Amino acid sequence: MIRNTIVALAGLALLAGCGGNEAEGEKKSEMASVRDLMKDEVQPTAEIYWGSAGSVSDENGMTDLTPTTDEGWQKTRDSAVKLGELGKKLMEPQYSKDRGEGWIRLSQGLIDVSKIAEQAAADKNPDKVFEVGGTIYDVCTACHQAYPQSEAPSAEGDGTAAAG
Ligand code: HEC
Repeated sequence: MIRNTIVALAGLALLAGCGGNEAEGEKKSEMASVRDLMKDEVQPTAEIYWGSAGSVSDENGMTDLTPTTDEGWQKTRDSAVKLGELGKKLMEPQYSKDRGEGWIRLSQGLIDVSKIAEQAAADKNPDKVFEVGGTIYDVCTACHQAYPQSEAPSAEGDGTAAAG
C-alpha cells in the first residue's frame, strides 16, 4: 500500500517553519505580526492537520496517525477550518499592507486548500487527508519563497552593533 511514502508527512511539520531560532528582541512591531501569527497560530494549526495522516515510526514499528474516533476526526476538520480563517486573516491590512497582490493570491490559496482539507476530514478519508496535507505544505512554501523571512528586527540598520 502507501505505507512507505506515508512516513514523510509528519516530517513536513518540521520543514515548514524554516528554522526560526531567535526569540530574543521580539518587539511588537508591524513586521513582527506576521511572524507571530505564523508561529502562534498557523504552524500549530497546520501541525494538527499534518498529524492526522500517515504514520510515524519508532522502536515499536509504525504508528498510524489516522484518527480513530469521531472527536479525532473533528479535530482534524477544525484545524482545516481554522487554516481557512487564518488565510482570511492574512488578507487583512494589518498583514497584507504593502505586500501587493501576490500576497492576497497566496492567502486565498490557503483558504482554497483549507476547504478541500475540511472535506477530506469530513469524509474521514485518510488518503485524501494525506494528499491534501502535502498540498497545504506546498501553499506554505510558495508564500515563504515569495516573501522570505525578515532576518532580524529592523530597528538598527547596521550589521554589526558593538554596543552592549
Ligand atoms: C500569504 C503568505 C504566507 C502563507 C500562505 C504562509 N506563510 Fe508562513 N510566513 C510568511 C511570512 C512572510 C513569514 C516571515 C515572517 C517574518 O519573519 O517577518 C512566515 C514565517 C513562518 C514561520 C516562521 C515564524 C518564526 O518563528 O519566525 C513559520 C513557522 C510559518 N511561516 C509557518 C507557515 C505554515 C505552516 C504555513 C502553511 C500552513 C504558512 N506559514 C503559510 C507568510 C506566509
